[in-house]
Amino acid sequence: MTTGGLFISFEGIDGAGKSTHIEALAQAFRAHGRTVTLSREPGGTPLAEKLRSLVLNDAMDAMTEALLVFAARRDHLKQLIEPALAQGAVVLCDRFTDASFAYQGAGRGFDLKLLSVLEQMVQAIPGEQSDAIRQPDLTIWFDLPAPIAASRLALTRAPDKFEAQPLEFFSRVAGGYLQRMNANAGRFARIDANASREAVWRQVLRAVQGRGWLA
Ligand code: TYD
Repeated sequence: MTTGGLFISFEGIDGAGKSTHIEALAQAFRAHGRTVTLSREPGGTPLAEKLRSLVLNDAMDAMTEALLVFAARRDHLKQLIEPALAQGAVVLCDRFTDASFAYQGAGRGFDLKLLSVLEQMVQAIPGEQSDAIRQPDLTIWFDLPAPIAASRLALTRAPDKFEAQPLEFFSRVAGGYLQRMNANAGRFARIDANASREAVWRQVLRAVQGRGWLA
């Protein structure tokens, strides 16, 4: 089993039900003696959390939104993710760049090529000379049909800017995740989130155990 740093991101449309599983996975890693850093995007540092509040609550065009989520990501990588990985921690991050491709790209229609340029610049690895960029070692994608996610969300809370979007928006976002998975198959584990909590958890655990990261 690896003891080096591990970076795992969690993705899915709003209402897909990531949160409880992120917490459970943190417990599982801790039970194996690993140091776990839990974080989220946009956010994870004081500056990035301020940007999160703008992105989630203020109206803005797609480019402004894309620049803000990548600005938040840059700070998050520099201040929190890279130092944690360098110390050998398991970083569990609720959303990362795939969300920008899904929400700003597929959802809002922002240019995917420009998102790729931002991704290359923002995720450059400190001290690395090659073109390699920081990406999650594993991305757990909670795949749930948009109508089901919407009905789950309706039961829970007052919607933020994204959650208030119409169903078609989330269908596009889900399509964006599928595209990202197809382009990055090795890094993705697709979870059928239209199942009981226990069944979803078993899939999450299998994805991690299958890579030899938990016994
Ligand atoms: P979410 O992760 O669902 O947090 P909570 O459970 O507290 O609502 O909220 C983050 C929102 O931000 C979500 O609607 C997706 C959106 N988002 C983007 O649009 N682009 C991004 O790059 C990221 C990371 C998130």
